[in-house]
Amino acid sequence: MVKTHTAIALPELPYARSALEPYMSRETLDFHYGKHHKAYVDKVNTLIAGTEFADASLEELVAEADGTLFNNAAQVWNHDFFWNCLSPRRQTPGKELTRALDKVGGLESLQAQFDEAAVNLFGSGWVWLVKNSAGGFKVVTSANADTPARDGHTALLTCDVWEHAYYIDHRNDRGDYLKNFWELVNWEFVGANLES
Ligand SMILES: [Fe+2]
Repeated sequence: MVKTHTAIALPELPYARSALEPYMSRETLDFHYGKHHKAYVDKVNTLIAGTEFADASLEELVAEADGTLFNNAAQVWNHDFFWNCLSPRRQTPGKELTRALDKVGGLESLQAQFDEAAVNLFGSGWVWLVKNSAGGFKVVTSANADTPARDGHTALLTCDVWEHAYYIDHRNDRGDYLKNFWELVNWEFVGANLES
């Protein structure tokens, strides 16, 4: 029987492209989601066609692929996760999450660590809040396409600090992008990741 190749899909955004305004513009979503994210998805599908990875899931690709295929698959995973970290509905962390955050110095201190890591990350990459092996929190950065999903960490929250994420709305001002990012964080999603 001929194996049918299940393409890696560009997931629907969980909100309209204009829904994150004024903190993130529709134009940014048009480019970041509609062009950059889509390009990673298309590249993965081109690279896996007719190979041993043709039927692999995105998670399998991130865990097992190397080189260009890993880079593109990890960027798909990272972006899928990133869009879910944002919400047009303004939120604050729920009770459980607040209790957990208080154990590590509270939300403000964690945000300060996250911002510092984001602003100081040289070049392109990602800032993450992850659950460490002891169930606590850790702020980590990853360069280019690297992802904590590969290291067995549970990702709770991420911010894409590639220039393509903020250049339209904030030009070179990564700090200003971060300020707007915090207005959009989907704390319900972060809390659900913590429980997982
Ligand atoms: Fe991106």
